[in-house]
Amino acid sequence: MTTTTEERARDRKKTAERLLASSAKLSFDPLKEIDWAAEPVEGAYYLPPHRVSLYGTELWEGLTEAQRIELSKHEVASVASVGIWFEEILMQMLLRHAFDRDPTTAHVQYALTEIADECRHSVMFAKMISWMGVPAYGPGKVSHELGRVFKAVSTHSQTFGGTMYVEEILDSFQREMMADESLQPLVRQVSRIHVIEESRHITYAREEMLRRDLGPVRRRFEQLLLGLVIFRSTKSLIHPQVYAAVGIDPVEGRRVARANPHWRATKREMAAKVIGVLDKAGLVGGANRWMLRRIGVI
Ligand SMILES: [Fe+2]
Ligand SMILES: [Fe+2]
Repeated sequence: MTTTTEERARDRKKTAERLLASSAKLSFDPLKEIDWAAEPVEGAYYLPPHRVSLYGTELWEGLTEAQRIELSKHEVASVASVGIWFEEILMQMLLRHAFDRDPTTAHVQYALTEIADECRHSVMFAKMISWMGVPAYGPGKVSHELGRVFKAVSTHSQTFGGTMYVEEILDSFQREMMADESLQPLVRQVSRIHVIEESRHITYAREEMLRRDLGPVRRRFEQLLLGLVIFRSTKSLIHPQVYAAVGIDPVEGRRVARANPHWRATKREMAAKVIGVLDKAGLVGGANRWMLRRIGVI
């Protein structure tokens, strides 16, 4: 990139002012705007069936319709609980970003606004999981502990690159969910609120990430760490324990999902856009391509 420091500062200010104005116009309070007393709709899926990790496999064929719906519910809960894990990581990373900068700037004020959004989102996801009456599966022990370190030491590129990845993946799922009238209305409403507010976060992260120039050595380091974030967060999306809810052995369920061409295609499809942007920012390359391939997002 050939822009000067002043041009970048101006651009940063312009983006933040636009995002602050949009937040003032359209933000949601999920405690008030979602009918948490509503009963689930009988016979409706929580996630489109073709996005369930076992869809199309022999294990899937062996499930009754009621079990398939049940599995879709547990998978939505798993993804939402991973969403909370990452939002908590992100809130801390944004706080660290704000901590070192001038709070009177629009850029920092938007970082603080985004923390407030994420705070409401995490409560919303948590309430949705309670509403469904299923466990908050979380990302698993290893990712949980890696997250503990990552949120304390992530660099600028890792903060905004990692954020973009997780936000875009959730966004792809939720755009489809909010548009699908056959799904549970409450889950669609949660998806709609999240999609609207996340589109601002994605802009903030993408533009901030693209503002950074990286030398060749640094670039490889950032690729490696970002690859790890992508690998762990993708691997953690569906907790194997979800399969036990429909009588499938978790180890077997995970093995079948991993090899399932439908699930692999879903992951590639959901990641296609964001991997393209990360590539443009120089954050996809030799140091992480093998990990992205291994986890099935390219
Ligand atoms: Fe969020
Ligand atoms: Fe976000």
